[in-house]
Amino acid sequence: MTKRDLTITDNRTGKSYDLDLELGALKAVDLRQIKISEDEQGMMSYDPSFVNTAATKSAITMVDGEAGLLCHRGYSIEELAEKSKYLEVAYLIMFGELPTRSELEVFESEIGRCSVLPQEVETMLRAFPADAHPMGVFISMIAAMGTFFPEARNVDDPEVRMQQVCHLTATVPTIAAYAYRNMADLPFVRPDSELSYTANLLQMLFKDPDRPYKVEPALEKALDVLFILHADHEQNCSTNVMRGIASSKSDPYGALAGAGAALYGPLHGGANEAVVRMLEKIEDKRNVPAYVERVKAGEFRLMGFGHRVYKNYDPRARIIKQVADEVFKVTGPSPLLDIALELERIALEDDYFVSRRLYPNVDFYSGIIYQALGLPVEMFTLLFAIGRTAGWLAQWQELLTDPEQRIARPRQIYTGSPPRDYIPLDKR
Ligand code: SDX
Repeated sequence: MTKRDLTITDNRTGKSYDLDLELGALKAVDLRQIKISEDEQGMMSYDPSFVNTAATKSAITMVDGEAGLLCHRGYSIEELAEKSKYLEVAYLIMFGELPTRSELEVFESEIGRCSVLPQEVETMLRAFPADAHPMGVFISMIAAMGTFFPEARNVDDPEVRMQQVCHLTATVPTIAAYAYRNMADLPFVRPDSELSYTANLLQMLFKDPDRPYKVEPALEKALDVLFILHADHEQNCSTNVMRGIASSKSDPYGALAGAGAALYGPLHGGANEAVVRMLEKIEDKRNVPAYVERVKAGEFRLMGFGHRVYKNYDPRARIIKQVADEVFKVTGPSPLLDIALELERIALEDDYFVSRRLYPNVDFYSGIIYQALGLPVEMFTLLFAIGRTAGWLAQWQELLTDPEQRIARPRQIYTGSPPRDYIPLDKR
């Protein structure tokens, strides 16, 4: 009899259970056989916030938190950031392989063809007040756009999925740019399919409709690298939401709007906005030691630091620091960079952060760059969303084509009141 991978002994009954691991993991459903009496449902695992639970198998992204490594479909983030461009990485993440030249050309022209919004969506965008947060505009408009493409609900049709992947990849930057233009009370600038994905976004953001606009190549490259760095990151909070909504076979627009809502939170993608507000509040690098003491006292968190998976330096933060140098050569230095560098220097020497293995994450330096590009702080998370759209759509497709996936419906441990009788109002 070959030895099974695991034997669990239930000391309450003295029974032993032999279990096999799958890819090194215990299948939680196998715990159900552990019971005290036969009429029980059986044992569950308990893991609030999924700190140690794999909700899926995935072939898209691998993060090694201990070593600080990140790969997409086997290619390192360092190589992709240096040698690739965002739409090529989006194709890799969404379809599994680096495209041939002709495949990439077809994909790029399809994205260019689909980047114009329905006129009604533009009209709805204008209805938002100038002080509406761009993430709220984005979430609303993505969900609204789904009503113009009812066929998108046929999520089991590969052709329909492909159409929606191209349409969302193409229109997310347009919605982002128009959210900014509405906030700045500027006329919308139509997408220009002759330009690269990132150059087109820059011109939609910053072009004066009455004058030609010249895209600065260094800034186009920097923003493209930032999109690559944000493209996907395993089962992060917003991707988990994308998958959860997709599991009920809802349309990808509602799923992506939900993912955007999760990203908006300051503990997730909203951190890049919170970092810049934190740096502005610190105001001068001489104030950093006092600020760090307040963080250690638990008054607030050091935004842009820490990560659920990385217990080493986030490789994306390292690359973003290099991108920042390139951007500041064009835009001039950012006064916030010195404060950020001093915060990092002090934190990485302080036992509070070292003992908790807290390092700068992807959000620590990205906001400084977005600000140097000329964007208001409210736009930073929306730029994160543009990059992450490729990952959300890749994970959406992977879930829908995974035979092991069904509608997401976690269990719970009930800690509420035992059954009791209703008390009439005049007796309470
Ligand atoms: C992103 O998951 C992903 O992959 C996300 C992301 C992606 O690409 O999708 O990488 C993008 O969201 C990056 C994270 C951006 N968020 C921030 O920068 C916000 C600040 N960071 C944290 O709040 C925190 O580090 C999280 C949310 C990122 C991770 O939280 P965890 O894993 O739940 O850790 P925790 O809250 O349980 O903290 C563990 C300990 C606690 O101290 P003790 O209770 O043990 O004394 O570390 C402390 C925390 O107080 N801690 C911090 C801290 N982060 C954790 N203390 C000060 N400052 C911080 N930033």
